Amino acid sequence: MGRICFRPGRRPIPMPPADLLPGTVPETQAASGLGTDAAPPTLIDSHCHLVFRQFDDDLEKVVDRWRQAGVRALLHACVEPAEIPAIRALADRLPELRYSVGVHPLDTEHWFADTQAVLRQAAQDDPRVIAIGELGLDLFREQNLERQLEVLRPQLDLAVELDLPVIIHCRDAAAPMLEELRTRHQHGHAPRGVMHCWGGTPEEMEAFLELGLYISFSGTVTFPKAEATHACARQVPTDRMLVETDCPFLAPVPRRGKRNEPAYVAAVAERVAELRGLTVHEVGDITTANALRLFGPGLHTV
Ligand code: NI
Repeated sequence: MGRICFRPGRRPIPMPPADLLPGTVPETQAASGLGTDAAPPTLIDSHCHLVFRQFDDDLEKVVDRWRQAGVRALLHACVEPAEIPAIRALADRLPELRYSVGVHPLDTEHWFADTQAVLRQAAQDDPRVIAIGELGLDLFREQNLERQLEVLRPQLDLAVELDLPVIIHCRDAAAPMLEELRTRHQHGHAPRGVMHCWGGTPEEMEAFLELGLYISFSGTVTFPKAEATHACARQVPTDRMLVETDCPFLAPVPRRGKRNEPAYVAAVAERVAELRGLTVHEVGDITTANALRLFGPGLHTV
């Protein structure tokens, strides 16, 4: 999201390169310089997509790698209701997986008259649904603001109704998103939530922080030229920062451009730690506590 989020387009995207298939040393430990004996940090990937076809062939290895990297819980995001059965089936297999239900601003063609009711039912049917989203506005890839607002507003209403946090995707759309959220605050009708895959300016971040939102950093914070994101990672209050992968998109350096996976959230935490003068274990503990505060005890760590 924001102007320096390099989300590389919609599904389907290419299969992972061969060098990401089963290796010897766990990638994140190799990247971090941690020996295989060192205890990994405690991490939560607060935003991932695993039902995309990029994980069809090697999901078990991906799971092994995130467990070795210290990822203790994951929040699986949803881009449209047709994904929900597959996400639920994945949650049946993976005790550390929780999920959201929602419609992404670039998936507005999947919003129908009954979609709010479909999302409500899905959330009420399964206590593992702990957020509404991902929802939001994206004026980088589309210009249909009015249609995106038609899809956004009933989801924000639903989050308030169900007292669930929202996962907000906002790309080149900070002004209309702030306007929508401020209006809701004035009427006492704004949900709590997180700005996922943060890529805006420090000024924009301050405005979302004032509305009570959390800021989640993804692989973009590892990109050398992402100076505004670096500044945000230094400035965000300790009790408002989260980390995520948004996998399979946005792999952190040094895997930029390749398939991303939850284990690589360690590289995001390492870069945030470096920018703030903390250890990766400290950032892991802080972001884990923050994720549990925002999403509640339903976010189950193993
Ligand atoms: Ni996402």
